[in-house]
Amino acid sequence: MDQPPLNPLVVLGATGSIGQQTLAVARQLGVPVAALAARRGSDELAGLAKEFSDAAIGVTSPTEMERTNFIDLLGTRAKFGPECLPELAATPGATVVNGVVGAAGLEASVAALKAGNRLALANKESLVAGGPVVEEARIHGGGELIPVDSEHSALFQCLVGEELETVRRLILTASGGPFRGRTAEELAGVTVDEAMAHPTWSMGPRITVDSATLMNKAFEVIETHFLFGVGFDQIEVVVHPQSVIHSAVEFVDGSVKAQLGEPDMQLPIHYAITYPRRVAGALEPFSFVGSSLTFEEPDWDLFPLLGLGYQAGRRGGSAPATLNAADEIAVQAFIDGRIGFPKIAEVVASTLEQVPFRDLASVADVMSVDEEARAVAAHLVSVC
Ligand SMILES: NC(=O)c1ccc[n+]([C@@H]2O[C@H](COP(=O)([O-])OP(=O)(O)OC[C@H]3O[C@@H](n4cnc5c(N)ncnc54)[C@H](OP(=O)(O)O)[C@@H]3O)[C@@H](O)[C@H]2O)c1
Repeated sequence: MDQPPLNPLVVLGATGSIGQQTLAVARQLGVPVAALAARRGSDELAGLAKEFSDAAIGVTSPTEMERTNFIDLLGTRAKFGPECLPELAATPGATVVNGVVGAAGLEASVAALKAGNRLALANKESLVAGGPVVEEARIHGGGELIPVDSEHSALFQCLVGEELETVRRLILTASGGPFRGRTAEELAGVTVDEAMAHPTWSMGPRITVDSATLMNKAFEVIETHFLFGVGFDQIEVVVHPQSVIHSAVEFVDGSVKAQLGEPDMQLPIHYAITYPRRVAGALEPFSFVGSSLTFEEPDWDLFPLLGLGYQAGRRGGSAPATLNAADEIAVQAFIDGRIGFPKIAEVVASTLEQVPFRDLASVADVMSVDEEARAVAAHLVSVC
């Protein structure tokens, strides 16, 4: 039977890890690309603008020279400034893949949902920092929110055809990161290169460091809460170093459904674009023979950001936005060599204590907390 064509894609964060993998999936599926956006007017983005010659191109923070070059190259196809993200996200009838890193992706997520589009969400900060605001946009705009994060895609796939009331637990798997099994003394001296050497996934710098501190898993717990509307007591984390089971759902009758596959982000991206259909993809068949699957408890003492994430999630309001902003600053400081690895958790915990709690009702509320928390965290980094 003939299937309707897939929606054209808007790829935000097109030059990043998620963006590049999304474009690989788009080429493979033959899906048209309506728009691309990134932070800088890099040669890489210019190359993509040539390849996808009908796409509008957004550049949120171009230099003067980049702006001039892009106008010469693209004329009116080029759009500039942070406002181009929500504008492109509202492209009628599009599937918007949000692969921007950081809270800068929030407004575009909200715009996509308000426009009634499908939002294929990789930008976890949208839900961590602005969960209630994104939820409001989804309900009132009528857009569709399909997770791209592999764990949430796994949960989403396990829940197809199920009723949420029959869920006992949502079980998020975690690789444990490069420092699984280390001691506190060993963690004190780890280098940026070691933190960047993720054992199973190849990703952008921030999420890679967040995976080493387990902050990423805490963000995913909060994301799970908002995506599936379940309480924090129903969300569990289990360390599974092979990253083959991407996550699992336990139902009230004791049955457990898990989603498995090679650790490759092209799979959840592909599914978010083709859902509810299954369309042939480029991945090799999965081999059970030779795979071993092991599981262990997370080390809550060695990785305090996991527990802190649960606390901030349970508190709600501005706490997760503060957590995210503080972590963004602390991770960048670690990458720049300004603070050691254990200081990331200290800066985040102190920022949470110092930024006053409030409720969040709009994107502007979230961005105001984000700005305040960044300033507090930057000060804490400077006195480390
Ligand atoms: N990578 C993964 O496997 C993975 C898995 C699950 C979830 N995620 C989530 O997906 C998001 C993207 O991660 P990533 O690993 O792809 O990051 P990344 O490789 O660092 O790429 C980030 C992308 O966002 C763009 N960008 C950054 N700031 C921006 C801004 N203010 N406005 C517009 N564009 C901006 C960058 O543009 P420039 O190149 O011009 O700077 C780049 O295209 C994150 O939220 C991450 O947590 C990633």
